[in-house]
Amino acid sequence: MKKILITGGAGFIGSHVVRLFVNTYPEYHIYNLDALTYAGNLENLKDIETKSNYTFLKGDITDADLMNQFFAEYQFDGVIHLAAESHVDRSISDPLAFIKTNIMGTVNLLNAAKDAWKGQMEGKRFYHISTDEVYGSLGKEGLFTETTAYDPRSPYSSSKASSDHLVRAYYHTYGLPVVISNCSNNYGPNQFPEKLIPLSINNIKNKKPIPIYGKGENIRDWLFVIDHARAIDVIYHQGGLGETYNIGGINEWTNIDLIHKLCEVMDDKLGREKGESAKLITFVKDRAGHDMRYAIDSSKLMKELGWEPSLQFEEGIVKTVEWYLDNEEWLNNILSGDYEKYYQDQYEKR
Ligand code: NAD
Ligand code: DAU
Repeated sequence: MKKILITGGAGFIGSHVVRLFVNTYPEYHIYNLDALTYAGNLENLKDIETKSNYTFLKGDITDADLMNQFFAEYQFDGVIHLAAESHVDRSISDPLAFIKTNIMGTVNLLNAAKDAWKGQMEGKRFYHISTDEVYGSLGKEGLFTETTAYDPRSPYSSSKASSDHLVRAYYHTYGLPVVISNCSNNYGPNQFPEKLIPLSINNIKNKKPIPIYGKGENIRDWLFVIDHARAIDVIYHQGGLGETYNIGGINEWTNIDLIHKLCEVMDDKLGREKGESAKLITFVKDRAGHDMRYAIDSSKLMKELGWEPSLQFEEGIVKTVEWYLDNEEWLNNILSGDYEKYYQDQYEKR
């Protein structure tokens, strides 16, 4: 039985990856390692937590000794590394937390894998999940390809860029069998409500202002989270060693157009008059160093490994809204506690 370590499996994307692997590969044992920070939530995995090929390991990737201990005890054959501090706004107020987890934590995992797999790298794989933000900010034209020069501009993207460089360094220096992917903005069920789409869904539901940074002209390329999980499956199994694959939705939206679309869906689902939710749109002070546009060229992944997005945005956004409206308890559990303080600091003192 293959033993696969998935880090950050209690988070948004990680939980979809864990579910996909546990259900698709009964011949694998999946170990979900997560520190359960504010973003980690085991409720995301309720439906699979009792499966015999699943084990949860609570642990912090910044603890090097613990990582070595886990590798010695469980003898992992592969790693899919998603654990990270992931929110740009939080990286602006607390960069060090991002340096610790995203850089130091990744190095701890690389060291643990390198030492545990010494002399027996055959059949092993260290898959690092990264972001399109490492490439910086695009103007009106062009797409990020795998050869676009790195130009990260926030503490978050800089920490992810640094971890990508280290992963490649371990491939070249120690022969660690690595693969990397860089994905665009994900949306879908289980996303923490600090991010634009779930934050807006929650505010619309509660008739609170929808905060749009600057003029809402910034562009993101949105991909349904399950399509990202499908890409991770394909790249883990078929990606070339030392290779990088970009993953995107071929689905660019300005923030303001996206929010108008979301408002339409919410009006419909909540039985509100057309145009009612859009009245909540409020322009607020821009994010510092706000990247203007991200857009991904996924043709390498599509041509070489045969992946493509399965869901159109029009369908995905409806599914997402329905999920949040049907899972009030999930949302309420998050909204109580620390999130309230975060929201006040981030928005009400802005
Ligand atoms: P998330 O914030 O929802 O989840 C992160 C998970 O990592 C949480 O479960 C958290 O508890 C865990 N974690 C954080 N610090 C940890 C530590 N020190 N030790 C162990 N676990 C820790 O993030 P997400 O949006 O699911 O992103 C997952 C990965 O995908 C990240 O590496 C992120 O950079 C990358 N990514 C995200 C997107 C996106 O749109 N969300 C797009 C491209 C790439
Ligand atoms: O591109 C991939 C990245 O996408 C991931 O690596 C990150 O982990 C993920 O958080 C996401 O980063 P963004 O900064 O693009 O996502 P966020 O949801 O925070 O913001 C999306 C856009 O919406 C961005 O232009 C900022 C804007 N925004 C965001 C928030 C939270 C607002 O206008 N208002 C808001 O309240």
